[in-house]
Amino acid sequence: VVLAHPALERSRANRAMAVAAECTNEARLHDLYEAYPDYLIDVPAEQARLSAHDVIVLQFPLYWYSCPALLKEWIDLVWLHGFAYGEGGVALQGKTLACACSTGGRDVNYGPFGHNRFTMDEFLRPFEATAHLCGMRWVKPFIAHGAALLEEEDLSRTGKAYHAWLRQLADRSARARAA
Ligand SMILES: Cc1cc2nc3c(=O)[nH]c(=O)nc-3n(C[C@H](O)[C@H](O)[C@H](O)COP(=O)(O)O)c2cc1C
Repeated sequence: VVLAHPALERSRANRAMAVAAECTNEARLHDLYEAYPDYLIDVPAEQARLSAHDVIVLQFPLYWYSCPALLKEWIDLVWLHGFAYGEGGVALQGKTLACACSTGGRDVNYGPFGHNRFTMDEFLRPFEATAHLCGMRWVKPFIAHGAALLEEEDLSRTGKAYHAWLRQLADRSARARAA
């Protein structure tokens, strides 16, 4: 789980989700803003980490209908030609890519008639296209909508649902590996 939240100390949704990820035996959490507060990304180390895992989950709060800047920088610098795509770029082939996002907007706002006009699947198309380009399997995202409105019990429910979603991803990937 590659987590990108620039102010995790003020986060509610992503913090609850990060705690749930840390409690999931199969998952490893990698906090990009903690690792690289200066944006100086260790590209070989990140490529080695990607190579070592079968399922890559990008977890972030939706910022301007996309991901926070450091996650974009990480993709730009790490998912290189010859590594992730292009000639000889087979490192990610057969792995799974997914997004886990929180949004300020409620679910009713994400649709053709909602305030934000488009669905989350549509906003996440660049990630889906990235998965396709790199020969990865794309799975439907985990979305925690209306993050500012979540009460303690909603946060706990979100954490549990995320934990179950991560476990399901891990199980599916283990089954695919065994087949
Ligand atoms: C710079 C910035 C841009 C944001 N853009 C969006 C957006 O495009 N859509 C949306 O629903 N919420 C947007 N939000 C709200 C965040 O997604 C929301 O605060 C976050 O998901 C809450 O998660 P957290 O509790 O982990 O911080 C934005 C917030 C910030 C600070």
